[in-house]
Amino acid sequence: MPATQGKIIPIAVLNAAVAGSALGVHEREAVEHAIAVHARRLGPLIELLHDVQDMLGHIPEAAVPRIADALNLSRAEVHGVISYYPHFRSTPAGRHVLQVCRAEACQSRGADALLAHAGQALGCGSSGQGHGHATSADGAVTLEPVYCLGLCASSPAVMLDGRPHAHVTANGLDALIAQCRQPEQTGEPVAQPAHAGTGTGAGAGPGVRVYVPRDAAALAVGADAVAGALQRECAARGLQVQIVRNGSRGLLWLETLVEVETPEGRVAYGPVTADAVPGLIDAGMLQGGSHALCHGLTEAIAYLARQERLTFARVGVIDPLDLSDYASHGGWQGLERAARMEPAAIVQEVLDSGLRGRGGAAFPAGIKWKTVAAAAGPQKYIACNADEGDSGTFADRLLMEGDPYTLIEGMAIAGLAVGATQGLVYVRSEYPHAIATLREAIARAEAAGWLGRDVAGSGRAFHMEVRKGAGSYVCGEETAMLESIEGRRGIVRAKPPLPAIAGLWGRPTVINNVITLATVPLILARGAAFYQGFGMGRSRGTLPFQLAGNIARGGLVEKAFGLSLRELVEDFGGGTATGRTVKAVQVGGPLGSYVAPADWDAPLDYEAYAAKGNVVGHGGIVVHDDTADMAQLARYAMEFCAIESCGKCTPCRIGSTRGVEVIDRIVRAGSDPAAHASQVALLENLCDTMQHGSMCAMGGMTPYPVRSALNHYPQDFGIESTTAAAAA
Ligand SMILES: Cc1cc2nc3c(=O)[nH]c(=O)nc-3n(C[C@H](O)[C@H](O)[C@H](O)COP(=O)(O)O)c2cc1C
Ligand code: SF4
Ligand code: FES
Repeated sequence: MPATQGKIIPIAVLNAAVAGSALGVHEREAVEHAIAVHARRLGPLIELLHDVQDMLGHIPEAAVPRIADALNLSRAEVHGVISYYPHFRSTPAGRHVLQVCRAEACQSRGADALLAHAGQALGCGSSGQGHGHATSADGAVTLEPVYCLGLCASSPAVMLDGRPHAHVTANGLDALIAQCRQPEQTGEPVAQPAHAGTGTGAGAGPGVRVYVPRDAAALAVGADAVAGALQRECAARGLQVQIVRNGSRGLLWLETLVEVETPEGRVAYGPVTADAVPGLIDAGMLQGGSHALCHGLTEAIAYLARQERLTFARVGVIDPLDLSDYASHGGWQGLERAARMEPAAIVQEVLDSGLRGRGGAAFPAGIKWKTVAAAAGPQKYIACNADEGDSGTFADRLLMEGDPYTLIEGMAIAGLAVGATQGLVYVRSEYPHAIATLREAIARAEAAGWLGRDVAGSGRAFHMEVRKGAGSYVCGEETAMLESIEGRRGIVRAKPPLPAIAGLWGRPTVINNVITLATVPLILARGAAFYQGFGMGRSRGTLPFQLAGNIARGGLVEKAFGLSLRELVEDFGGGTATGRTVKAVQVGGPLGSYVAPADWDAPLDYEAYAAKGNVVGHGGIVVHDDTADMAQLARYAMEFCAIESCGKCTPCRIGSTRGVEVIDRIVRAGSDPAAHASQVALLENLCDTMQHGSMCAMGGMTPYPVRSALNHYPQDFGIESTTAAAAA
């Protein structure tokens, strides 16, 4: 639960605060501007608040009555939303905002120490808990803990004024803070992320094509500086190059991965820094020449060559926003076919493919679509879940930044299939680059006739827009997401009714994850049987696994279901980044188990994993080395649940806090077997209550990481084994 949530502010106090603080001219203009832009839209509140905060740095208390009036809401409703979402601030921030990730993948590389260091350096160390933020006394920096920035393969990660930074050390952080404190930095506007796409660089005309990713993970290690150095160096030498800002290939340990087009194919160099550029050009990089950083043909790099890239076939290959590049790489073929098909036939194709939801619950996509198609109503929606809050996951981000038209195409096909005319993509605020890219792609697709009143010549309409989240993990739960899109606190709704029957604004709604929807164009283009041909059992097709945390070769591995965790972590990932023994691997995000080492060779498949009490989830894999303290990670799982709980049900809201306390008592019990036994039994009991008594998987699955940590690593809890403790 956000730190401020649950506090009841007496109305009298609120009114007094409002009366005593009128809006200044600039503030009033900003608020009126946001109202003018958003007030007529459906569910405008959160978008409006984002705009106000972007313009003013915070949302002044005195703005609440005016916003409430304009939207016909009560002041309590507006306050309720501002105080629920961690992203919103009702007090002024410092001149710079430093967000430090403290989720599991970053913890595996020292995030806790980094956050503590930041607190010390800024003199505002109190912000290490929850979502609370604190500002340094000189007003230079506001420090905010965040829970995943989608840079989990390059951890620990931070974001400064919207600019991502990866592999951050204490010294690196000091340098960032020093920059913020420089007088010339005062008042610098918050960076607006540029969208991906062709950066003209040294010219978009003739010349060697050089690809420099503009994916957030590449930017986080200096890709812009590399592109700038290339541009300058080539200009100085009179060399003609055409720099294309592509998405990332997902070989994230090699970022910045520069690729040079040669007659034999693209040749890869990485990790390239700006300093290395002159030497690379001297070595003949523009002709694909050899160099210590050269990896030969990109497609032949084993990590990539061994993958089965279906959904991610174009990511890193094309210029993300170039419509002709998209079309020449097979884009729009699925939509063109769907536009000529009967809606029921499209649904049948998706059903036959065996595609299941990639957001975590693995529900068959075709069945969901069939329900919405059959539901009556003049208005239906496609809602894409791009909240991707799980630590260790970044596939949605990589796809939206690297190949946004695939998602757009998949949503348009879904619209044609079920009779929906409007699509919304709910993207988390921690993904500013994905949001910018997607918004630009939607505008271009609409201008080109792929969206709009006559989608791909079908005679049917489909429009799309992006809605920005505001830092709440539980808003990834589908009904909380609907609440958030509608402009309310992200509180989970009771089911039934299912969103397929009564979803957004009470209308039938398809809710699917980014990867689910982005896989649909391929299914329509190549046919259900083609996709069905991959995978094992009831887990058909491929999954983009994401290797994160303490791993030597972190990145995205798209493979058919059926390979093992060991293959992923050892063969693809190369073991830990620290070179130490792999101790624990969490699969499926913060609600997923630490898979027992004895199961690391089991095939990754939804049913096989469920049979062992594990989950595949969204495919996030977070590796920890032998320095990990599993009792602390179990404690963190409970703490995370306490921070993010929507508060609707007691087992989750209260149980998670009690869970933190019980784990602390287990650890404190030292070598007292009787005390251990009683506390372990209490924890088991609590986990049972949470698992069976919670309304959604937030409280219901938090016991997975807790129990698996306790069962597989009891020594970290100070006990020989759970069975031994229970017997004492
Ligand atoms: C606490 C919680 C967080 C979730 N976060 C996400 C998320 O970030 N992205 C996502 O697609 N699904 C998330 N889900 C699952 C969604 O509720 C839903 O099952 C999914 O969006 C449906 O799409 P799919 O069928 O394509 O997987 C979450 C569920 C829970 C309980
Ligand atoms: S389990 Fe209950 S309190 Fe926790 S997030 Fe779900 S609905 Fe909210
Ligand atoms: S970026 Fe820190 S866990 Fe994802």
